[in-house]
Amino acid sequence: MNDTRGQIKSQLATGQLRSYIDDNAKDPHPFLATIRARSMEHKWNFMLTTRDQAAFLYTQVLTMRARKILELGSFYGHSTLAIAAALPPDGKLITVEHNPKFAAVTRIHMTEAGVGHLVDVVTGEAPVVLPDIERTHAPQSFDMIFVDADKRHFDIYWDAAMRLSRPGGLIIFDNALARGEILDKSADAAGHVAAVRNFNARVLNDNRVFSYIATLADGMLVAINYPG
Ligand SMILES: C[S@@+](CC[C@H](N)C(=O)[O-])C[C@H]1O[C@@H](n2cnc3c(N)ncnc32)[C@H](O)[C@@H]1O
Repeated sequence: MNDTRGQIKSQLATGQLRSYIDDNAKDPHPFLATIRARSMEHKWNFMLTTRDQAAFLYTQVLTMRARKILELGSFYGHSTLAIAAALPPDGKLITVEHNPKFAAVTRIHMTEAGVGHLVDVVTGEAPVVLPDIERTHAPQSFDMIFVDADKRHFDIYWDAAMRLSRPGGLIIFDNALARGEILDKSADAAGHVAAVRNFNARVLNDNRVFSYIATLADGMLVAINYPG
């Protein structure tokens, strides 16, 4: 089936190439197709992660046998389910979403998909919720952190991720190429492009991690917190 969803977000592959990539990604969970179909009803459906991103997240979790994961930005729960699908029965994914409607939809979707017991959907502003999470969870206790929320707070999210991530843990930030505008200095007036560029440079220069931009969708900044 030709699944064209996610096209708007992806600047690296479009049109038939985008469809080909989507068609060659297996869905880690059958309910992901339903989430994609339902998210199309929303005018912000461009926020949806692509099928290869979902597959990428799934394989990362599976490969590293991650058990405890934090996600910022749930929307309809597409990436949330891809991650949860790889968790062991005693695993836990906390996903933070500031839009109460999206948080409620994600909760329902996780229940419908049969992974509700693995996922805590927290409604709130990530910069406000993160200190609560840091109070209730030990430092360096998360295996993986996936950030797909607002770009304005990337620095806050990075600092929290570095405190929460275990040595050897994975930290992934979406939209590292700012919808293809990362090199366009004229787009800086909007603020978010320069913010992403500065953030990418910050991570590159952070000697605590090994990092690179994976060319999936709009670019995913992948960092591994060096052990020891
Ligand atoms: C790109 S979408 C997430 C897409 C989702 N990961 C998926 O797979 O479809 C970004 C989400 O982050 C949420 N968000 C934006 N700023 C936020 C903030 N400060 N705190 C919590 N959630 C936020 C938005 O409401 C939106 O649902």
